[in-house]
Amino acid sequence: MDLGHLIPRSFKGKLRTAVRGEGVYIYDEDGNAYMDGCSGALLSSIGHGVKEIADAIYQQLLTMEFAHPSRWNNKVSVEAAEEITSLAQEGLDYVWLVSGGSEAIESAMKMARQYFVERDGDGSGKYMMIARWNSYHGSTVGTMGLAGSMGRRRTFAPLFIEGPKIQAHYCYRCPHNLKYPECDVACARALEGEILRIGPASVAAFFAEPVVGSTVGALHPPKEYWPIIREICSKYDVLLVADEIMTGVGRTGKAFCTQHWNVTPDIICSAKALAGGYSPVGAMIVRKEIAETIRDGSGAFQHGHTYNGNPVTAAAVTATIRYMKKNNVFENAAAMGARFEEKIPALNEIPIVGEVRGMGMMRGVEIVADRKTKAPFPASVKAASLVTDECMKRGLVVYPGTGQIAGVAGDQFLFAPPLTTTKEEMDTMTGRLEEALKASAEALKGKG
Ligand SMILES: Cc1ncc(COP(=O)(O)O)c(C=O)c1O
Repeated sequence: MDLGHLIPRSFKGKLRTAVRGEGVYIYDEDGNAYMDGCSGALLSSIGHGVKEIADAIYQQLLTMEFAHPSRWNNKVSVEAAEEITSLAQEGLDYVWLVSGGSEAIESAMKMARQYFVERDGDGSGKYMMIARWNSYHGSTVGTMGLAGSMGRRRTFAPLFIEGPKIQAHYCYRCPHNLKYPECDVACARALEGEILRIGPASVAAFFAEPVVGSTVGALHPPKEYWPIIREICSKYDVLLVADEIMTGVGRTGKAFCTQHWNVTPDIICSAKALAGGYSPVGAMIVRKEIAETIRDGSGAFQHGHTYNGNPVTAAAVTATIRYMKKNNVFENAAAMGARFEEKIPALNEIPIVGEVRGMGMMRGVEIVADRKTKAPFPASVKAASLVTDECMKRGLVVYPGTGQIAGVAGDQFLFAPPLTTTKEEMDTMTGRLEEALKASAEALKGKG
């Protein structure tokens, strides 16, 4: 397709043109059907072409498409906030609505800083935000200083303020050279060391993805990780911000992933699946005490976008969450995640499969050249891209990634179908996945 004046994601990539979506399928311009094995980028959680969401958006467009948030309130965003808080842990009572994930994270950075200034006065020294290497929190200049996906940061590093980072819980290649459980989850305990090194009086927040998404490929933590992190944050008066932009809204089988470990963050950032892909959306869900400190202090969060609490987005959010509740979508995600697990032993037989990981319907496969040494393929082989092509040939879309080893090496991909996927569709997708991995193993022979 001639892209004319458009700047695409890549001028060199040869992408097919999508023309229609229905259920778990996306159709190209030649009428070929592809199973959406990654829900776009983990957002098309209720599948494509759901009429009742489109109807809700259309009705809102007819009623009122926009009223600027600095001049007007609107009932639809109040309703959306109520639906969102109904999914979150107790105490996470306030919602700030934006247009995307990066905006939600930027909002949390500013909320954390403003909270401490309002609570402790202008002299508050708490401003530093700690995050982790091998994480992704967005593509804006603010969020890139926070997060550590090297490939995406390198060019822009001179533009942003580099935040302090600890290593993620990459057990398959433990950055501390330890083994779970003897390690005593040293990667989580490292947060305490980092806070002490900086000085707790300067640290405002810690940001992390409950299951690391695109940078490492569904890297799930040991079960002790988040409770330890919560304890450390509370001990040092540091806000815990869970980036649930990929993991949230049922992806791992619970509304928010941190609920698996009974952890309540101070702030949850959500986006993507909150509106199922039917509208751009982001949300920051904030603990009562934080929002009310601002409410009872200056009275205004010093942040704002034209599309805060946009009525059309809000209508999409409410309709999506209600659809999820009505159709037991989270329960289906847990059941289909368990069904995927039955397939793991077969996938593990394939010579290039280093590790299959993740939770619920957020799964990742790390591809290696040598399973004993865990050596990756040379970057020039483009192994993740080859596997993706083999999947596409079989009508399955997956989400590839590279660079999880020190930012320069390693291949992986995410497999994360819509949460509404049926048993039969799941079996077809995992069957195609297995075939594609076997074909890739053949094609990659001798290239390690
Ligand atoms: C974990 C995580 N955080 C933040 C973002 C940024 O969201 P957006 O692309 O909507 O700005 C993403 C996007 O993929 C993400 O996966």
